Amino acid sequence: MSAKKRATFGGRISAVLVSAGSAIGLGNIWRFPYLAGENGGAAFLLFYVLAILLIGLPLMLAEFSVGTATRSSAVAAYRKLGKRWSIVGYIGVLTAVIILGFYLVVAGWTAEYTVASLTGELMAQPNAEAHAAAFQNFISHPWRPLLYAVLFALATHLIIALGVQKGIERSSKVMMPLLLLFMVVLAIRSCTLDGGMEGLRFFLMPDLTKVSASTILAAVGQAFFSLSIGLGTMVVYASYFAPKTDLQRTAVEVSILDTLVAVLAGLVIFPAVFSAGIEPGSGPSLVFITLPSIFSKMAFGGVWATIFFLLLVLAALTSTISMHESFTAYLVDDWKLKRKTAAYLTTGVAIVLSVVASLSLGDWSGVKLFGMTIFDAMDYITANIMLPAGALLACLFVGWRMDKQLVTEQLYPETHPNKWVMGYLRLMWRVGSPLLLVLIFLDSLGFI
Ligand code: TRP
Repeated sequence: MSAKKRATFGGRISAVLVSAGSAIGLGNIWRFPYLAGENGGAAFLLFYVLAILLIGLPLMLAEFSVGTATRSSAVAAYRKLGKRWSIVGYIGVLTAVIILGFYLVVAGWTAEYTVASLTGELMAQPNAEAHAAAFQNFISHPWRPLLYAVLFALATHLIIALGVQKGIERSSKVMMPLLLLFMVVLAIRSCTLDGGMEGLRFFLMPDLTKVSASTILAAVGQAFFSLSIGLGTMVVYASYFAPKTDLQRTAVEVSILDTLVAVLAGLVIFPAVFSAGIEPGSGPSLVFITLPSIFSKMAFGGVWATIFFLLLVLAALTSTISMHESFTAYLVDDWKLKRKTAAYLTTGVAIVLSVVASLSLGDWSGVKLFGMTIFDAMDYITANIMLPAGALLACLFVGWRMDKQLVTEQLYPETHPNKWVMGYLRLMWRVGSPLLLVLIFLDSLGFI
């Protein structure tokens, strides 16, 4: 598609909204708390925030620059700027569709929980143990979670196929503030539960003696996952930004919003975890056991639960759309498929992957990859290996290979470049991020 014909979003606010829509999702509310719970709470939070500031922000700007400079989807964008670097794009689109696969499963759980809240089934469970048992029953059911995952894939497909960007933009404007408001109310309720203080301490007072390389790797992987960076999603989104969009402000605002939602999720989850005597290292089930326990202690709990899970469904939807779009845009730009055909193909692949991921938590739980269920392996390998690898290459590319002037023009389309900011970014792209990533990698593999 030529640069002139390519659709663009409305303006800077839209750029922030759609990027934040991609970033804010189950990564913040489901994945972040479960990883923090498994990795020492506050120590994990600390490294997560450091990873966002030191590596995440510069990387997001790198991806934005590639996107606005080429106005192409990931593979084509890297190819345009440096032939052999299209590998960065390939890693990205492949990772996007694998993440989409297991993400749809969790998105399906939120949809099921919305329905269960509405019917009153969820609130009927007497305590945390009952919630845990109900969750286990649900995810291992032979077909119900599959049905919800497939429905979620179809909802994503519909939006992608209709190209209702305006609808997404507009609903993000209402949904995100509402989600934030809800999280604040829930955090207050949770922190005032009996025994909640213990949870706050767990989440906010780091115990650095327990930090290991795998904690840091998990925090870095989560930072990328949460910001939707490391695999070219933000390249694709930036390719739709209006000309002269202020990339720096956009990246800073998206990162702040995204981190805010994750921290709020921690403030909601951990006090309730300790108050109800739930094990913080319960893994992917953590949020689905804890949240219902909070709602059941609130007046009109069922109503709160319904609205909250519905907001979660919408937050997940704006994220599945971005992953779907990464792969669809690749098929359109590179395989020259019609947008409709490309979308069908992506949805098909995603459904197959999500069915496998979901079954691996039930009937196929005996099948192990590297000692993990297929679901856990998809989650672990994408976030802890593929995202950091994509991130490493993207930083090296923008730092060393991409034309310096072209990068500067993307970041400062109208004003004089700030040489301190550019100097810092270039340092992080060229040596800072690659060095940190390699060290963390080697350390977690036991080489240091
Ligand atoms: N960031 C989203 C979340 O936190 C998930 C996501 C959407 C994503 N697009 C992505 C993760 C691209 C990595 C790469 O829920």
